[in-house]
Amino acid sequence: MSATLRKHAGRMFAGGTEAPETARPLRHVAIIMDGNGRWAKARGVSRLEGHQQGVEAARRAVETARELGLTHVTLYSFSTENWNRPDWEVRHLMGLLRRFFEDDLAKLADEGVRVRIIGDRQTLPRDLVALVEDAERRTADNTGHTLQIAFNYGGRDELVRAASKLAAQAASGEIDPAAIDEAALTDALDTKGAPDPDLIIRTSGEQRISNFLLWQAAYAEFVFLDCFWPDFGRDEFIAAVEQYQRRERRYGGRLEEDA
Ligand code: IPE
Ligand code: IPE
Ligand code: MG
Repeated sequence: MSATLRKHAGRMFAGGTEAPETARPLRHVAIIMDGNGRWAKARGVSRLEGHQQGVEAARRAVETARELGLTHVTLYSFSTENWNRPDWEVRHLMGLLRRFFEDDLAKLADEGVRVRIIGDRQTLPRDLVALVEDAERRTADNTGHTLQIAFNYGGRDELVRAASKLAAQAASGEIDPAAIDEAALTDALDTKGAPDPDLIIRTSGEQRISNFLLWQAAYAEFVFLDCFWPDFGRDEFIAAVEQYQRRERRYGGRLEEDA
C-alpha cells in the first residue's frame, strides 16, 4: 500500500476531521463479487470451483478492508434473483455460505469484527438464520470494523420491506405518516446505522448495479474492474481505492474554486 493511501486511510478512520481538503473520506466499501462462473469457464473447471475460489477472494477482501482501516465493508454474496439459477448451483452456493458462516464468522467475531447480515430472512432455512443471528448477537458490541454480508438481498425487496414496516407503524399510530422522511426510511432499512457506501466495486467487467443497495448508493462512486472475482486480491482492492481517491465528489453542489 502506498504511504499516501495508508495516511489517508488512517485519517479517514479518525473521522476525517483532520483530513486535508483533498482527501476523500473512505469509510465504507461495498463489493459486487461477480465473475466466478466466467473465471471457471476460462480455466475449464466447474462453476463450483469458481464459487469456491470466490470464497477465498472474499476472505482476502475482508482482510484488506481491515488493513485499510475501513469502518464498513459490504459483500454481495447472494441476491434475491440468484434463486433463479439451477438447483444444483443454488444448493452449492448455500452450502458454501453456510460453511463461511460456521467457520469464519466465529473467528471474525473473536477478532473484534461486527458481523451483520442484510437481506430477507423470512424465506431462509431456520438453522441458517439461527447461525447468523448468533454471530450478530455475539458481535453486536464490536466497534472496530463492521462486515455486512448481503445474503438473499435485493435492494427493491429491502425497500418494500422498509415501506411495509413504516406503513404498519403508521397504521397502529406508532408514527405519524407526515413525519416519514429520508432519515425514517433509512432507519427502516436492513443497513440501519451504517454509513452509505462511499465506493462500490464490481468485478467481471459488467457495469450494472444488479439490485444492490439501491437507496444507499445514491452518491456512491463506482469502480468497475475487468478481473473476475476469484482473481480479486489485495492489489486489485488497493488499485480500486486509488481510483476512488482521484474522484471528485460533489453531492450536487460545486467546488469552491469554481465560484
Ligand atoms: C458471482 O459469480 C457469484 C454469485 C452471483 C453468487 P457468478 O456466478 O455470477 O459468475 P458469472 O457472472 O456467471 O461469471
Ligand atoms: C450480482 O451478480 C449478485 C451477486 C454478486 C451476488 P449476478 O451475476 O447475479 O448479476 P447479473 O445477473 O449479472 O446482473
Ligand atoms: Mg454474475
